Amino acid sequence: MPKLYIETVGCQMNMLDSELVVAALRKQGYELVDSPSQADTILFNTCSVRAHPEDKTYSALGRLKHAKERNPQKVIGVLGCMAQKDQELIFKRAPFVDLIVGPGQLHQVPDLIAAARKGGGQRLEVSLDRREASRQEVAQSFESYDPLRDEEMRPSRYQAFVRIMIGCDKFCTYCIVPKVRGPEQSRNPAHILSEVRKLADEGCREVTLIGQTVNSFKYVDGERTTRLSDLLHQIHDVAGIDRIKFVTNFPKDMTDDLLVAVRDLPKCSRYLHVPAQSGSNAVLKRMKRLYTVEEYREMYARVKAILPDAAVTSDFIVGFCGETEEDFLLTYELVRECRFKNSFIFKYSARPGTKADELFPDDVPEADKRRRNNTLLALQNQICEEDNLPFIGRRVEILVEGPSKTSVKQGESGDILQLTGRTTCDRIVVFDGNRRQIGQLMPIQIVDANAFTLFGSVVTEHVGPEVYQLA
Ligand code: 5AD
Ligand code: SF4
Repeated sequence: MPKLYIETVGCQMNMLDSELVVAALRKQGYELVDSPSQADTILFNTCSVRAHPEDKTYSALGRLKHAKERNPQKVIGVLGCMAQKDQELIFKRAPFVDLIVGPGQLHQVPDLIAAARKGGGQRLEVSLDRREASRQEVAQSFESYDPLRDEEMRPSRYQAFVRIMIGCDKFCTYCIVPKVRGPEQSRNPAHILSEVRKLADEGCREVTLIGQTVNSFKYVDGERTTRLSDLLHQIHDVAGIDRIKFVTNFPKDMTDDLLVAVRDLPKCSRYLHVPAQSGSNAVLKRMKRLYTVEEYREMYARVKAILPDAAVTSDFIVGFCGETEEDFLLTYELVRECRFKNSFIFKYSARPGTKADELFPDDVPEADKRRRNNTLLALQNQICEEDNLPFIGRRVEILVEGPSKTSVKQGESGDILQLTGRTTCDRIVVFDGNRRQIGQLMPIQIVDANAFTLFGSVVTEHVGPEVYQLA
């Protein structure tokens, strides 16, 4: 049996892409192994959003040089965003790489590996650059990669990512995504629905709809336009699906019809990831985020008015070009005021090929970036803890996802083990349970909490759903 090793970094898009590539190769008889030394095909599915994951990929590639010299039959492939961004540069830096395949060309991976193994030489398969051709031509060169999946080939039987759009048209100045993932294209809702139905038939209980700006979803077919809110209604009708989530939202596209759909459809998670990126108008303007902090606050107030129990999470970039201490304090203020359920905080990383890199010097010293990162993180962690503690004594409903990190680490193999799941607000709950509870919705009594996790026990007496408190 041919043996495959794959390393994936980056966002949910990449996780889904890797899952689909692995599924396609398994259909051809490949078996997954957990180290490059055991494998005859080694793939890296890469991320370009910051320099750090790229550096890690190049070092990992460097470590394979000797392995390839010892065994020239090994096929080494670089897939995804860094493949699209760096193209031939990857062959220059790692001449022993066989395949470079961009995110819009993943359907070709099995054939490319077969050709490389037969001695077909190096291959570069990427999509068109956005400046090179018309929008339509570029869009056509980025193919949405959504082959039908098999139940056994998914990492979890009960949960699945479903791509509803590819690409991005927002062009935030710091961001490489519009370049490497191409123009925004929404998938045909009929295809999305049939994928969800198939997943439900195979036992899937939770779908997470993914897109770089998922709430910009818009599919026009003649007279008929389908928005994300319409799609949620359609997916809500699929029997077997208990939970629907969607990520990532663009603040300006957070329209009332979407919030009302989430409110009216009980299967929709009360959880919205709406990155603000900064609390300073000067910075937002240089980022070209297309909204002011006042508009973000107005959007946030609308979310809370329509969905008072919803948890909102955000992303922030600290140390963006020209960010002053005053700018940073405005971001700090926004986090303190909104009390996000969580914030993902990143130090600005200049990306060649973006407008910010072209126009503005990366002038915030690394030490200031680090300090701002730590300061904001400390505030967010304090909020997380303060907002988790009131859950002690409450009863919540969770979808059980599988063994907890601790039980995986300890290699627990019996039926009774520590399990983990999430509330409708995406809070992680850990409890002792039985393996057969995986994939079920369960009532849990919360007995302890810290900033990151709620700890609970299974509620054994019968309770009606009305007893749950929205978590
Ligand atoms: N540097 C740092 N963080 C970035 N992000 C996107 N581009 C960059 C960059 N150049 C962050 C944004 C985005 C998240 C996925 O990554 O916060 O929301
Ligand atoms: Fe990047 Fe902005 Fe598009 Fe998000 S919305 S993927 S940050 S360009």
